[in-house]
Amino acid sequence: MSKTILITGASTGIGKLTAIYFSQKGWNVSATMRTIEKGQDLLKYPNLKIFRLDVTDDNSIRQAIDSTILAFGQIDVLFNNAGYALVGAFEAMGQEQIKKQFDTNVFGVMNVTKAILPHFRGNKKGTIINTTSMGGLITFPLYSVYHSTKWALEGFTESLQFELKPFNIRMKNIEPGAIRTEFENAIDYFSTSEYDNYTSRAHQNMLDNYKTAPTAEIVAKKVWHAANDTSYRLRYAVGGQGPLLLFMRWLLPLSWFTKIVTSAVEKGIKQ
Ligand SMILES: NC(=O)c1ccc[n+]([C@@H]2O[C@H](COP(=O)([O-])OP(=O)(O)OC[C@H]3O[C@@H](n4cnc5c(N)ncnc54)[C@H](OP(=O)(O)O)[C@@H]3O)[C@@H](O)[C@H]2O)c1
Repeated sequence: MSKTILITGASTGIGKLTAIYFSQKGWNVSATMRTIEKGQDLLKYPNLKIFRLDVTDDNSIRQAIDSTILAFGQIDVLFNNAGYALVGAFEAMGQEQIKKQFDTNVFGVMNVTKAILPHFRGNKKGTIINTTSMGGLITFPLYSVYHSTKWALEGFTESLQFELKPFNIRMKNIEPGAIRTEFENAIDYFSTSEYDNYTSRAHQNMLDNYKTAPTAEIVAKKVWHAANDTSYRLRYAVGGQGPLLLFMRWLLPLSWFTKIVTSAVEKGIKQ
C-alpha cells in the first residue's frame, strides 16, 4: 500500500514542491493550504488531493486530517511546513503582529501535531517532520521574533521525541538555509525612522542572499530522505550556506561567529 504524507502550506514554495516530489515518487499526497484555489495546478499530479487547512483554525485541521484518512486510508507522515517571517526592528512590531507570528509558526505546528497524534498512536507508527530553519539554531539581525519561533520549534521537537518514541513515532526537523520561494515576498517588514539607517541596509543585505539561493526542490529531496529514514535522527540541515553556517556555529565560539555574521549583514552601514 502506498504511503501518505499530509503537508501544510502546500500552496507555494517548499510545501508545493514537496507535494509534487512525493506524488512523483508514488506516495499519496494530502496537499493542504488555507486557500484551495491556489492549488488547482497541483491536481494534475497522481494520487494528490487538496484539502483546506489553516494552521490557526482547529476545525480546518480536524477536517483536513479526517478527509485525508477517508481518501487514503491512513497518514504515515505529517510535514508541518506552513510559516512566514516577521522581520525588522523589534520595537516597531505590534503585539498583534508578534502574536500572529507565534500563532502560525509555533502554535500552528503544535495544533496540527496534537490533532494527528491519536491517529499515529492508534497505528503505532508515524513521522512528524517540522520545517524549522538554520535560524532555529543560529541568529541574524532583524529576525528576532522569527528566530524565537524557530528556536521554540527546535526545543519543542527535541523534547517531544522522548515521549513519542515508545509509540514508534519519529520527530524530525528540516533546517533549510536561504531557499528561493515566495518566502521573501511574504515577509512582514517593520521599521521606524530611528532604525532605518540600520534596518534598510541590513534587510537588503539579507535579501541579497536569496538571489543565489537554491530552489525548494533541494528541500523536497531532504524531506523525502527524512520521511524514509527509519532511524531516530532528529536534524536535517539543507540548502545554500545553511549546513556550513550550522557547522561553523557548532565549531566556533559564539563571539567569533557573531563577528562573521556582523561583517556579512552590516556591509555598507555607516555607524
Ligand atoms: N525560504 C527560505 O529561505 C526558508 C528558510 C528556512 C525556513 N523556511 C521555512 O520554510 C517553510 C515554508 O516556507 P517557504 O520558503 O516555502 O515560503 P512560502 O513560499 O511563502 O510558503 C509558505 C507557505 O505557508 C503557508 N501559510 C502561511 N500561513 C499559514 C496558515 N496560517 N495556515 C496554513 N498555511 C499557511 C502559505 O500559504 P498562503 O499561500 O496561503 O500564504 C504558504 O503556502 C516556512 O515554515 C519557513 O519559515 C524557509
